[in-house]
Amino acid sequence: MSFERDNIQRMQGYASGEQPEDARTIKLNTNENPYPPAPAVNRVIQDFDPVALRRYPPPTADTFRDVAAALHGVSRSNIIATRGGDELLRLIITTFVDPGRLIAMTAPTYSLYPVLAQIQDCPILQIPLQTDWSLPSNFCQQANEAGAALTLIVNPHAPTGHLLDAATIASMAAQLDSVLLIDEAYIDFVDPSLQHDCLDLVHQFDNLLFLRTLSKGYSLAGLRFGYGIGTASLITPMLEKTRDSYNLDLLSQKIATAALLDQDHARQSWQQVRLERQRLSEALLAMDLTSAPSQANFLLVNVPVTIGISAASLYLGLKQKHILVRYFDQPRLDDKLRITIGTRTENDQLLEALTQLLATA
Ligand SMILES: Cc1ncc(COP(=O)(O)O)c(C=O)c1O
Repeated sequence: MSFERDNIQRMQGYASGEQPEDARTIKLNTNENPYPPAPAVNRVIQDFDPVALRRYPPPTADTFRDVAAALHGVSRSNIIATRGGDELLRLIITTFVDPGRLIAMTAPTYSLYPVLAQIQDCPILQIPLQTDWSLPSNFCQQANEAGAALTLIVNPHAPTGHLLDAATIASMAAQLDSVLLIDEAYIDFVDPSLQHDCLDLVHQFDNLLFLRTLSKGYSLAGLRFGYGIGTASLITPMLEKTRDSYNLDLLSQKIATAALLDQDHARQSWQQVRLERQRLSEALLAMDLTSAPSQANFLLVNVPVTIGISAASLYLGLKQKHILVRYFDQPRLDDKLRITIGTRTENDQLLEALTQLLATA
């Protein structure tokens, strides 16, 4: 006999990317930052007195919220700190979407979204992206007509790296009847020359929320720390009603605050990633492996049939050589590999391994 709710029994859980523990594997599969976190993080850990763990942590992580608010030019009431961006996604769904109401998203998208929708017993509408991975022009109309209560957009998009500009985001917020979550997990890797910044829009739209994470841009995926930015009327119910009472432990609050304060360190890693993204995409192109223009810390690499080896086989071949990349066995992605930008050395090893695999194909 099963005690699971019907929707939980029907669903599959989220399939995390492989996380091998051996040090020799080159991990280019889960979009982690290849560079270390800020030195200030080391200092926080070294100076941390475990006696402080006797007490509960600050419930709403206000020191962190103040630092994030100052960084983004908003006020504390516009920020909620969460256990990774993933907790924010769960809070948004449980706070704003009744079970049975529809959640709109693109296809493809972050594969956790459908899983979280199923947990809340919500149907999803997946609207296919166009061939260049841009949004179809009637995206908002489709979401509205289907009665979406929430729309989830990743920007820059995963798994393609495609960037929607601020004017598009503003127009979506204006058109949609639903709450609009712009998931900016990869925003730090956007080329600064584009001067991309959407956060001002939180003052204009009461249905617009942004997700940020320290997992990628701040090299802290293992910490589990993210935050949401939005108008206070969206932030407050999550902060005061649906959040776990002490959702963030004391040490991670201190580490996250220190990391966010060291913008210089973080920016250097973003710039390195961008330079390597450019170099890697050019080197792959020279091997007939084209990739979609990416503003994120990964490339979605096309494996054409002319190359004589499938994307699935290439993924396995790389794995045998202890290089992990991400293969999605789903329509429109099954002839592609998503490759996280590594360090220069890691990327060189990847290119060398690909050269060997293609030579024997
Ligand atoms: C698109 C997207 N959003 C959100 C997240 C959540 O990241 P985290 O929970 O590590 O902050 C991820 C992680 O891979 C992601 O790819």
